[in-house]
Amino acid sequence: MGNTNDIKEILSVKSISNSTAPVGVFDSGVGGLTVAREIMRQLPCENIVYFGDTARVPYGSKSKNNIIRFSEQIIRFLKTKGVKAIVIACNTASALALEAVQEETDIPILGVIAPGARAAVQATENGIIGVAGTEATIQSEMYTRVIRKMDPGAVVIGKPCPLFVPLVEEGFAKHRITEEVIDIYLADMKKTDIDTMILGCTHYPLLRSRIKAYFGEKVHIVNPAYETAMDLKKVLAERGIENLSGKAASYEFYVSDAAEKFTRFANGILSYDVAATRLVNIEEY
Ligand code: DGL
Repeated sequence: MGNTNDIKEILSVKSISNSTAPVGVFDSGVGGLTVAREIMRQLPCENIVYFGDTARVPYGSKSKNNIIRFSEQIIRFLKTKGVKAIVIACNTASALALEAVQEETDIPILGVIAPGARAAVQATENGIIGVAGTEATIQSEMYTRVIRKMDPGAVVIGKPCPLFVPLVEEGFAKHRITEEVIDIYLADMKKTDIDTMILGCTHYPLLRSRIKAYFGEKVHIVNPAYETAMDLKKVLAERGIENLSGKAASYEFYVSDAAEKFTRFANGILSYDVAATRLVNIEEY
């Protein structure tokens, strides 16, 4: 009898510590903060450990092998922080590394492609969907594959928009030059019949209002971040590891380079005050 109670107690302690354990969120740099921001809004009790691979950004021009290697290192690092689940906020890493790392890891790992694809399939009326992303994401055709699994008749038109990333990072989101770059990349897409457009890169939601204005009311703009946060909520609930403590969450931020620049950027887009970002030598993991 005593033994049974001991076991029950151990199990309940384990589930308490599992549920209050943080969620790991990672990206190639600052862009994944758009996903972390959505998790903070939708799951306000979940503690978060964020890692931005600022030393090796951009991932969008790197090979699949390297993106898998980087993702594996980051997952090993996040596991040292005791995370109970991981969200790959980066579209490029979700497209190229998610399947590989899911096979190797014993905790839930979610990407942003399936949630973004699902939101687009739900939003489209004519089944013609545009995707803007990095070179690697568009070349992988992962959005096309996932969308077609959900709606085999869908037409997906992809467009790499690599300059959007530095424009956002340089604080040029509202600059007139960004309007020109949007036109250069997306003029052909605008001539098609898309009625839905996926912002398939972490940085693009920070250009949402510009892109929305460019396409006009007839095109529905999808930011995968909201659906990703909802997927996370579902996975945590299914496993009984959602944080039900009712306490305000705590957040930790780590990067592989340029910590101060990251802190400034984070404070520009999060409503949470990021006091400090810590440096990690990610090649050690
Ligand atoms: N985080 C990347 C993505 O969402 C964009 C920046 C990069 O190329 O690393 O695809």
